[in-house]
Amino acid sequence: MSDYKRILVTSALPYANGPVHIGHLAGVYVPADIYVRYQRMRGREVLFVCGSDEHGVPVTQRARKEGITPQQVVDRYHSLIKKSFEDFGIGFDIYSRTTSATHHEFAAQFFRKLYDDGKLIERTSKQYYDEEVQEFLTDRDIVGECPHCGNPDAYGNQCEKCGRDLSPEELINPRSKRSKSTPVLRETKNWYLPLNEYEPWLRDWILEQHKEWRPNVYGQCKSWLDSGLQPRAMTRDLDWGIPVPVEGAEGKVLYVWFDAPIGYISNTKELCEREPGKWGAWQKWWQDEDTKLVHFIGKDNIVFHCIIFPSMMKAHGKYIMPDNVPANEFLNLENDKISTSKNWAVWLNEYLEDFPGMQDVLRYVLTANAPETKDNNFTWKDYQDRNNSELVAIYGNFVNRAVVLTHKYFDGKVPANAKPEAIDAETLAQLPQIRAAIEDDIEHYKFREALKEAMNLARIGNKYISDTEPWKVAKTDIDRTASILYTSLQICANLAIAFSPFLPFSSEKLRQMLCLDKLSWDSLGNAEVLQAGHQIAPAQLMFAKIEDSQIDAQIAKLQATKAEHEAAAAAALAETPAPAKAECVFEDFEKMDIRTATVLEAEKVPNTDKLLHLKIDTGLDVRELVSGIAQYYTPEEMVGKQICILANLKPRKIKGIVSQGMILMAQQPDGKMRVVSPEERLSNGATIG
Ligand code: MF3
Ligand code: ZN
Repeated sequence: MSDYKRILVTSALPYANGPVHIGHLAGVYVPADIYVRYQRMRGREVLFVCGSDEHGVPVTQRARKEGITPQQVVDRYHSLIKKSFEDFGIGFDIYSRTTSATHHEFAAQFFRKLYDDGKLIERTSKQYYDEEVQEFLTDRDIVGECPHCGNPDAYGNQCEKCGRDLSPEELINPRSKRSKSTPVLRETKNWYLPLNEYEPWLRDWILEQHKEWRPNVYGQCKSWLDSGLQPRAMTRDLDWGIPVPVEGAEGKVLYVWFDAPIGYISNTKELCEREPGKWGAWQKWWQDEDTKLVHFIGKDNIVFHCIIFPSMMKAHGKYIMPDNVPANEFLNLENDKISTSKNWAVWLNEYLEDFPGMQDVLRYVLTANAPETKDNNFTWKDYQDRNNSELVAIYGNFVNRAVVLTHKYFDGKVPANAKPEAIDAETLAQLPQIRAAIEDDIEHYKFREALKEAMNLARIGNKYISDTEPWKVAKTDIDRTASILYTSLQICANLAIAFSPFLPFSSEKLRQMLCLDKLSWDSLGNAEVLQAGHQIAPAQLMFAKIEDSQIDAQIAKLQATKAEHEAAAAAALAETPAPAKAECVFEDFEKMDIRTATVLEAEKVPNTDKLLHLKIDTGLDVRELVSGIAQYYTPEEMVGKQICILANLKPRKIKGIVSQGMILMAQQPDGKMRVVSPEERLSNGATIG
């Protein structure tokens, strides 16, 4: 840190197309907030910037689905997201939005500068256009047959059946999802940033100069660079976004990944212009080599923050580069991928309804389990365990004993260190080491490790008070009791400081209990934070035990979500008709002898699940057949039913029974079957055609 004068921290701008969940918090915002709180306590000049990412296709899609405008979508979620961050103590200096006037103007100017300086290349390409809705289609709005596996519903960018990446032109018989019409290829002009030209510079800057970046980040960059960079379109044929500020670009907007990261800069500008005395000029934060820039992001954002945005800034010419891009892996929820569309998530607003005032518990669990080096899993059981056996049983218990006993024996005044013993000094000697470890971990973006150190301090305190047993000593030796509580209270004060980047609400509570004016990082490691005679406040509960019933309720809520989603998916599947068959001629149909019949007897074919053995009256004869309908009809239900059969199907032996004919069944795509019967009972053998 020492070579820098100030630190600029950004955290990924969340899409304003839904509320934020624990995955967002664990991946980006809690680590960024810990880092910033720590740096502020160290007295460093820090600026923490975020805001909503309000352009992009997902917003338009959501608007279309809900029948409202994109602006209404982003207005709704911007406020909700902003509030969730405030509630969880994520201390941004500014949380603005990319639909702001400042941002629109700034991003357009940025583009215009690249355009004027000849940094962009103009290219014409052919893209699918829907003539009915009169718009170019995004890759996800085009479906068609996968050329690899034949899946009839592959998307323009990917086939979800075989998993291959596709481009829309590869699809066979493409259809527009917007209007069901067949899209046509139309020429369109867009502006590209030739990333290939920045490749040598990127290789040197990242692969040579930033070997210290996290292995996941470095590795992803290396594989992108090794596979060769291509020019990338910085404009799109869409109507939601920032209009391309070039003549002849009507109906085009800036690519959302062009405009969004510029949001970091324009939001900084907005803040600096609002409070110039406090923050100075925005250029100081973005264009001065003495600023250390750090981007906190999730792993799906690595290429944008390490390759594309730096290339944009390099093309512009005046900007500093990030010193580090600590990207986290993903957090799963109860062993499944968190999914907004499947509602498989713990939403922050809902969490606070169920666990009011318990922000720090979630911050704690998400940091203790942070997906820093690999994907990680959040389970409610682990959440409960960490709360009950760590926060409550160790940290909270220790503080409570120290504060309660101080009130009991010393009227709530810090006692004098009247009779010190070796164990006191040995215990306190660990404080500076813990401080050094926390600092080193945080400076290296190792937040789980740093939190472990803080918790270790609580363990030390808890062990100290259990070993020294002041409640027993008090009966015989009040001076020794004084020293034990004096020592314990010093540890409490250190805990309030050590935890404050991680658990700001709890540290504030403890600060108030200890009647400290402020928590200063400089006091961490100090064995004399509280003076003898200093009055402290009554004990307050720091953490409450979480009962099984609360956890069961959360798990039940998730299961209900899953069941609901599966039912909806099944219903959607049931309604998707099977693809049409190839054309046939009437003669093909005429060959088939289809007629009515009545079931006389029915029984299950032994040792099978699906087969029924039926005896039927066809009007012509009584015959036997075997039909795979046992999952849908019991033998009793079949007896007496009038059905339709294909009577001249070549007989076939099934499980030792000669089956003469086939029952006509209607089958849904999800498998459900019903027999086809005439609307009203007819004589057996009536022909169908
Ligand atoms: N909205 C993006 C996401 O959630 C992140 C944008 S980060 C920015 O993945 F740099 F573009 F702002
Ligand atoms: Zn496929």
